[in-house]
This record gives sequence, structure tokens and C-alpha cells, in this order.
Amino acid sequence: MATESRPVTADAPVDAPGPPEALRPRPVPPSPAGPAEDGAAIHLPPRIRGNRASHLLRFSLRQHDLVTRARREHGDVFRVHAPIPGEPSITAHPEHVRSLFTAKPELAPSVTAESPLRPIVGPNSVLTANGPRHLRQRRLLLPPFHGEAIARYATMIEEVAEREIATWPQGRPFALAPRMQTITLDVIMAGIFGFTGPVVEGSPEHRLRHVIQRLTAISTTPVAKLGELVNVSRDEPVGLVRRGVGWLDSVTYPIIEERRRAPDLDERTDILSLLMRATTEDGELLTDRELRDELLTLVLAGFETTANSLSWAWERLVRWPDAHERLITAVREDAPDADDVVERTILEAMRSRPVIPIIGRRVTVPWRLGEYVVPAGSPISISILLVHHRDDLYPDPYAFRPDRWIGRKPGTYEWIPFGGGTRRCLGSALAMAEQRVVLTHMARRLDLRADRPEPEAPQHRNVTMIPARGARVVITGRR
Ligand code: HEM
Repeated sequence: MATESRPVTADAPVDAPGPPEALRPRPVPPSPAGPAEDGAAIHLPPRIRGNRASHLLRFSLRQHDLVTRARREHGDVFRVHAPIPGEPSITAHPEHVRSLFTAKPELAPSVTAESPLRPIVGPNSVLTANGPRHLRQRRLLLPPFHGEAIARYATMIEEVAEREIATWPQGRPFALAPRMQTITLDVIMAGIFGFTGPVVEGSPEHRLRHVIQRLTAISTTPVAKLGELVNVSRDEPVGLVRRGVGWLDSVTYPIIEERRRAPDLDERTDILSLLMRATTEDGELLTDRELRDELLTLVLAGFETTANSLSWAWERLVRWPDAHERLITAVREDAPDADDVVERTILEAMRSRPVIPIIGRRVTVPWRLGEYVVPAGSPISISILLVHHRDDLYPDPYAFRPDRWIGRKPGTYEWIPFGGGTRRCLGSALAMAEQRVVLTHMARRLDLRADRPEPEAPQHRNVTMIPARGARVVITGRR
């Protein structure tokens, strides 16, 4: 049965005072959702105009424009052709989100099994597996990504950030995104492989970092985009992607081999060593291939997303002087609410520029989405972008206003940059910790301005949405 329809409002304020009157959320009109009632007739949501090729092109290049216009024309639910099999219905309603996040996994498995990362990380990693295998991988990986485990990374993140920020140029424009990637890649390498300290040229770590950074840069070219489309839903890569994967493997397997021989393997706390000691339910150790799939999943899912989230935060801050000023003042004066101001800034940046703009599930039974019912087997996508720009939940949605979070907790089905349910981002605690440390450090040390006044357009790369010019800024002073 569809879940009972009742108004969804943002979670109750956690303390007074709340956000300014003009930014207070309003109730969302109800819209029942969930497995359809017995005998409910299929009633498909409207399909947006244009043919398959035009949908695919706009979806991969200008998703923001596509979904915003579609919502204006059709309301909260509509259908498009997207780079996954079937014709997903896209929703922007928090009750529909709730129905998918709280569904039993077998009723609404994730479509990440069909993601562009599948040919790279294989069908069995925590990201691409479904069903019992997925739950087992998640259980294995949850402890090292738990908030408490992550807390011990704070000093390491601070050191990495300090080291990198000291190398940034002053007085001339540069893009933050690649610099942020250096920081987040270092952090991931330390957490996952246990690499710490300066990178030695020619070492396995150096080679792996180099390959990842090169492949990430290449993945933004039009040829790579084509390669990505050709590889959709494949278990094994073909063409250009195959060459990239071969290159990646040639540097990853030697690290695994070397670690298997490490005399201190039993004492090591990094994730690779932990996975190497873990056994399957049959008491077997993970194979090299399984280890490789899991490691690459974590690196690929973790470093670029966090780097771009931080880049977007600064792309917004340097164009919103009030928010920028408030952050800098709170941090530099060690104000009692400095941590809250940092937190609100991150919440608002991830609301207005969610790095992963859309996620999906494929329902295995007919599913109600408000007045519509889609058949079993249909993909349903949640447009994080659209949910985050609802003007009932977020009045003045296109403004960057960290103050809207004063006394307000992010709602589980309303602030969803990390997705939700049993597929919620495994690395969210790490990503939040990195953002807190790096944002605070930069606010304390750097005077920044935008290189140009106009905002950077969102560009879509793989499954992520990034600032088109890499969040270019100028450092005008250091402290
Ligand atoms: C700001 C940074 C990040 C953002 C915005 C982000 C966002 C997401 C989203 C939207 C999903 C899909 C959730 C769903 O379908 O419900 C996801 C899944 C995942 N993320 Fe992240 N992520 C970030 C950082 C990280 C980091 C640092 C790691 C690990 C080192 C990581 C590892 C994963 C994994 C393994 C999954 C798959 C979980 C599963 O399917 O069970 N992510 N992430």
C-alpha cells in the first residue's frame, strides 16, 4: 500500500530562535507514495517534450535547465530518457523520496548497479551490488566510516589542508577544484590505504595518485563522455574506458600485493588492511579482485565529490558577501557559535549545489507517485536539485542563505545530498569532517574574492555536478 498521505514539513526547529521569517519553511502539499494499492491502474507521469537523443544530450550536459523547466511545465513528477535503461520518472516531492528511502531494499533497489562506475568497479562493489551482497559489504565498511572513527582523522585533514593551502598562488586567479582534489585525495589515500606523509616520487602511492588525477581530468572531455555512454550498464569496460581501467589496475594490484606481505598487517587500521583481514560468511578472505573493486569504489566515490562540494561552497561564498563575512568573522574571532556558522554554511552549500544532483531506484512492484502509478520494473529518479529548490521547503531557493539553517535540522527526506535509506552515502561523516576542517582553515587563513562576478554554471561530469570553471578565485591576502 502507498504510505499514508500527510503533510511533510521541515523537521521541527531544534532550538530558538529559528531562521528569519522570510526563510521559514512552509508545509508541502501532501502526495501519497509507495507500493500501489491492489488493482490500481497504471497512470504514467507526463513525458517531457523532445526525442530520446535530445533528452540524453540535455540530461548529460544541462540537467539543471532540463529538470527545472520540466518541473515548471509538469509539476513534481515527469518522465525523461536518461542514460539508464527504461525511461525514469523523476520526482521532486519529499513524500516520494520518503517512500523510496524507507522501502524494503528488494522493492526499490538502487540503480547505481547501472551507474557509469559499474564497468570500472565491477558489479559487486558496495556501490554496484544489490540485495544481500550489498548489505554484507556495507556492514563490513560501516565501522571505519562511522563518525567516531572519522574523528581521529581531523588532525590529519588539518595537516594535509595546511600543506596544500601554503602552495596556492596569491594575487592571480586560479581554480580551487583541482587544489581541493589534492587535499581530498590525500585524505582518502591516508584513510583507505594508510598512506601518510609526503608522497615519494615513483612510489606505488605516487603512481596511483597520478593515474587517478589524470583519469579524472580526462573524464571531462567530450570523447570520454561518449566512452561513458558506450559503457553504460556493462560489467566489463570497452574502448577508451577499458584502457583507463587497465592503467588503473596496473597501479592498484601492486599495492594490494605489497600489503598482503606487510608484516604489520594485523595491527594496521587502514581500510585496505581491514578488508584484507575480513572474511565472507563462508569464512573466505576477499580475493584481490574484490579488494580492488572495493578500494576503487571508495576512492572514486569519495575524493572528487568532496573536492567539488568544497569548491561549490567557495564559489557561492565569494558571491554572497553577507554569508562570506559572517563565516570569516565567526571563525577568526573564535565566536561561540563559530562551529554552527561553519555547519550552516556547509548545509546551505550542499543544498544549493548538490554535487550528485540525481539518484535513482528501480521499483520491483507498481509504485504510486501522487496521482501517477508506474509499473513494476520502472526506474524512479529523485532529483536532489529539485527537492533542494522547492520554495515551500526553502523559500527564496536560489539565494545562498546559511541563515535559513538557524535552529533548523536538515530533514531526512528534504536535505538529501548524501541520498538516503540503506544506500545513504557511506562516506558522509568523512565528507562532512573534511568540509568542516578545510572550510574553517581557509576562512581563517585566506582573504578570497571571485575572479569574475557572474556565477559559475554547473557542468555535469560522470554522475557529478561541478563548477564549470573549477571555482576560480583570487587570494587577496593571507593571515
Ligand atoms: C560531499 C561529498 C559526497 C557526496 C555529496 C556524496 C554523495 C553520495 C550519494 C548521493 C550517494 C548515493 C546515495 C543513494 O543512492 O541514496 C553516495 C553513495 C556512496 N558514497 Fe558518497 N558522497 C560523498 C563523499 C563520499 C566519500 C568521502 C566516500 C568514501 C570515502 C563515499 C562513499 C560512498 C559509497 C561507498 C556509496 C555507496 C553506498 C551504498 O550504495 O550503499 N562518498 N554518496
